[in-house]
Amino acid sequence: MATTPANGTSTEATIEDYYVEDRIFEPADGFRSSALTADRSLYDEAAADRLAFWARQAREHVTWFTDFHTVLEWDLPFAKWFLGGTLNVSYNCLDRHVEAGRGDKVAYWWEGEPGDTRTITYADLLDEVCKFANVLKGLGVERGDRVCIYMPMIPELPVAMLACARIGAAHSVVFGGFSADSLSDRIDDASAKLLITADGGYRRGEPFGLKDTADASVEATTTIENVVVVQRTGQDVSWNDSVDYWYHELMDGPTASADCPPEHMDSEDLLYLLYTSGTTAKPKGIMHTTGGYLTQVVFTHKYVFDLKPDTDVYWCAADIGWVTGHSYIVYGPLANGATSVIYEGTPDTPGRDRLWDIVERYGVTQLYTAPTAIRTFMKWGAQEPAKHDLSSLRVLGTVGEPINPEAWMWYHTHIGGGSCPIVDTWWQTETGGHMISPLPGVTTTKPGSATHPIPGVFAELVDDDGRPVERGGGYLTITRPWPSMLRGIWGDPERYRETYWSRFEGRYFAGDGAKIDDDGYLWLLGRVDDVMNISGHRISTTEVESALVDHAAVAEAAVVGAADDTTGQAIIGYVILRGSHDATDELGEEVRQHVATKLGPIARPKTVVLVPDLPKTRSGKIMRRLLRDVAEGRSLGDTTTLADQSVVDEIRTRAAESPQED
Ligand code: PRX
Repeated sequence: MATTPANGTSTEATIEDYYVEDRIFEPADGFRSSALTADRSLYDEAAADRLAFWARQAREHVTWFTDFHTVLEWDLPFAKWFLGGTLNVSYNCLDRHVEAGRGDKVAYWWEGEPGDTRTITYADLLDEVCKFANVLKGLGVERGDRVCIYMPMIPELPVAMLACARIGAAHSVVFGGFSADSLSDRIDDASAKLLITADGGYRRGEPFGLKDTADASVEATTTIENVVVVQRTGQDVSWNDSVDYWYHELMDGPTASADCPPEHMDSEDLLYLLYTSGTTAKPKGIMHTTGGYLTQVVFTHKYVFDLKPDTDVYWCAADIGWVTGHSYIVYGPLANGATSVIYEGTPDTPGRDRLWDIVERYGVTQLYTAPTAIRTFMKWGAQEPAKHDLSSLRVLGTVGEPINPEAWMWYHTHIGGGSCPIVDTWWQTETGGHMISPLPGVTTTKPGSATHPIPGVFAELVDDDGRPVERGGGYLTITRPWPSMLRGIWGDPERYRETYWSRFEGRYFAGDGAKIDDDGYLWLLGRVDDVMNISGHRISTTEVESALVDHAAVAEAAVVGAADDTTGQAIIGYVILRGSHDATDELGEEVRQHVATKLGPIARPKTVVLVPDLPKTRSGKIMRRLLRDVAEGRSLGDTTTLADQSVVDEIRTRAAESPQED
């Protein structure tokens, strides 16, 4: 098994560092003594009878209108959890807390980037969700429909999601940084009936627009009947009277009654779609359903973060447009009755201590962020967090990519004051909730290791032939169905089977390589397929290649993810121009920007290298490994299969001369 991901960071140099890591951190006695769980009982219970374990979690943490009669129906690879059960996710997130007399408890402390704030209690949120749910009905949205949401990080975003859940419509949230093309592809694929967007949002101190992009998408699609627009920035927007509605006007209008009984949904009804990049150019609509998803996110949010809803202030500093925000800003925290912070903007606005200022002002107890962010904070220096009192913090979380031990140690020392447990949570859009993570009161951690599967989840490494690997490197597989697993790919059940269940028989293969050390600790090593991980965001090489060749001047393109100190990986595009075009820096820049226009700024290559040819095998296959070696400045590995050896030298020269984004 190759431990270097096929298109990812070369991990050879660091595997051994990980492997010999001998720093260990036990939960402090003080933490352990008040932790929700501090012994192995949850693990033991799940190991003894995993279905009974999950059934207990489902009954304890979720309120059902009708109890389920069967825990799991497993027709590999199709799972159904908690059959016969009916429930409503918005009821679980809102009504039950208000009914229990906790309506005045703060659900969200929301902080806008310009410094404006909103305090939203559970009663406020219930009221707004019910009103908006009725507005949606008034606009013709029915149970079973799909609603697309394209919004900045404002409170109306969770309101929109919960309103959909309340009436049984599935939402499809599209991250606000995606382009018009990406948005219209997702609208089309889901046949979404309604789009909820905003005039714009704030980023790095400036308002940005969303409505124009939304308009362009709606123009290019056929299924959207109405568009609801939240006013956030007050900027001028173009308006189409026959489809556009202001959110605030609808919420003051006749359809916005605050009385909206929740739909009784089947446990397996679709809750949402979330599109994610795979190894092909077409993003996949990952399907999450109701009962199993809610059970696992509530369970993990509680135990992985040691959540004490009465006293904690929890903050997941992700964007709701990604699965992390779905599960750990919206559904998990609300169902647990937590008080959370939501921050709209960037961590360097107005200063590089913005996050630490928020932690201090709100008394944040759990902080959940990505290794990329931590590495950026490291670059900015320890003096930034040192300006603030961070002593309220109890648990620190990371997600999205492997965390290097140095970043782990920095997080531990400078943010956690040397005393907070760190939970490195491995999971995916497809898994819905945490899969591999320490439990903070139980697990002895090692910097850089996600440690072990959570109770009720079963993982194994296998070799190329699918044989279990006890020690050393392998492919990470999940051996048993889990409640929040994806139920499929929207509109393509065969692709679901093929993508996740065909590589190793009877096993879910997640696309990641990992190592298991002598103590049985798991060390995630990154993707082993053609998926890049840029700042914790998945981007497929094929998708970027398609966007590159879409430019009129481009004849052929190859994309690799090269190791990057801050973003984990950076996108490097190698492009062969069509005959009549000269290889100028300006054209390289234009091609680079073209990708941003086609896919969104997050997919813009850091560098586009204009090359006369690409390294290919004699059978014509592009040797990406060599391109990655060039991008990472390494001496080349085996080049004997290369058809024309001189190509690589030329590429290397061109790469050294090509401009790079900062
Ligand atoms: O490669 C793994 C990496 O992120 C991928 C999943 O990406 P996505 O679906 O966008 O979800 C990200 C947030 C859950 C995985 O296949 N990944 C995620 N968490 C970790 C990680 N790699 C190493 N360690 C992690 N903690």
